[in-house]
Amino acid sequence: MRSGGAQARIAVIPGDGIGREVTPQAVHVLKAVAAVFNRSLEFVEFDWGADKYLREGVTLPVGAVEMLRDEFDAILFGALGDPRVPSNQHAADILLGLRFKLDLYVNARPVELLHDRLTPLRNRTEKDIRIMVIRENTEGLYAGVGGVFKQGTPDEIAVQEDVNSHKGVERIIRYAFEYARQNGLKRVCMSDKSNAMTFAHGLWQRVFKELREQYKSIDSRHLYIDTLAMEVVRDPSQFDVIVTCNLFGDIISDLGAQLAGGLGLAPSGNIHPGKTSLFEPVHGSAPNIAGKGIANPLGSALASAMMLDFLGWKPEATAMRNAVRAALHENYVTPDLGGDKRTGEVGEWLAKKAATKSAAHT
Ligand SMILES: NC(=O)c1ccc[n+]([C@@H]2O[C@H](COP(=O)([O-])OP(=O)(O)OC[C@H]3O[C@@H](n4cnc5c(N)ncnc54)[C@H](O)[C@@H]3O)[C@@H](O)[C@H]2O)c1
Repeated sequence: MRSGGAQARIAVIPGDGIGREVTPQAVHVLKAVAAVFNRSLEFVEFDWGADKYLREGVTLPVGAVEMLRDEFDAILFGALGDPRVPSNQHAADILLGLRFKLDLYVNARPVELLHDRLTPLRNRTEKDIRIMVIRENTEGLYAGVGGVFKQGTPDEIAVQEDVNSHKGVERIIRYAFEYARQNGLKRVCMSDKSNAMTFAHGLWQRVFKELREQYKSIDSRHLYIDTLAMEVVRDPSQFDVIVTCNLFGDIISDLGAQLAGGLGLAPSGNIHPGKTSLFEPVHGSAPNIAGKGIANPLGSALASAMMLDFLGWKPEATAMRNAVRAALHENYVTPDLGGDKRTGEVGEWLAKKAATKSAAHT
């Protein structure tokens, strides 16, 4: 099953640090939502992370990608990163490994203000900040193509190639238009730096021109990335969907996260439509607060709501999002958002709130 069925199998990878604290809370809320909506959600947990790497030398086990691809509908991921592994090797193998090997070419990063008090922008309200940032997730400057020459000498040269395939650019821009169409959104903005990166982003320009002809009912527009960064801050209400390359998407979506309440609240989907996809909070393993029971579980809960959307379970996703919104409005939140609640207390509260069918409509 991948969309619309009554049951789904979810692989859970809590990972390291606060990933292991927030993910169980998200699972708890998901179970409560599934029960009230008569869905069957099966969770299988995997202990991949720093402990396993340090104990057994294993990062992503042999056969893991095929197993996830063939036996699971989606993956709920926590965070990876541990001071005992300064190389971050396990995180690179597991997270980047899954993104690339499962070909999760869409990084969907919603920027949605859920309470007016959370934005640093003056006089902006919830209705002004609701943007879906669609970031290309498998190519560009993060493709790992390049090298160094004469390393360690005064003549050292370092090259990092920007890899853009026609297929890769076409499918991500098409996804953005389709996302807008399917969600009743009117505006798509493609952003690049084609005035300076004439080869790589000349391709983005050509593909965008082809595709906008196929989606004439959508108001499509282009902005250079530097202009986009200014405009998102000046007036975020002018954007519905933004589509851009891997590097620019990384930066603009983090800028957006700050406009909507910061890291503890930001969710993300690593998606290949119709195939096993991965959902995670944007934040990392936060070693500075790990083990203290104060990590904010709302980002993981919102990532879980994105997963429910991906499964085609819209009322369930809405119930989950509305529970998060209610927690923010009632200030039932962790210290990072100005509250005094603990991770587990927020999880318990969300589960109760989300497990009312009326939560899907409020
Ligand atoms: N997707 C991922 O797995 C991912 C993403 C980013 C960073 N990392 C890794 O995480 C480790 C720590 O990185 P970092 O400190 O730069 O970023 P981080 O996101 O872990 O933390 C940044 C700051 O935000 C706070 N914070 C983050 N999430 C929070 C939450 N849910 N509730 C309350 N406060 C929260 C932290 O306490 C810290 O002060 C590193 O090893 C890094 O490589 C992993």
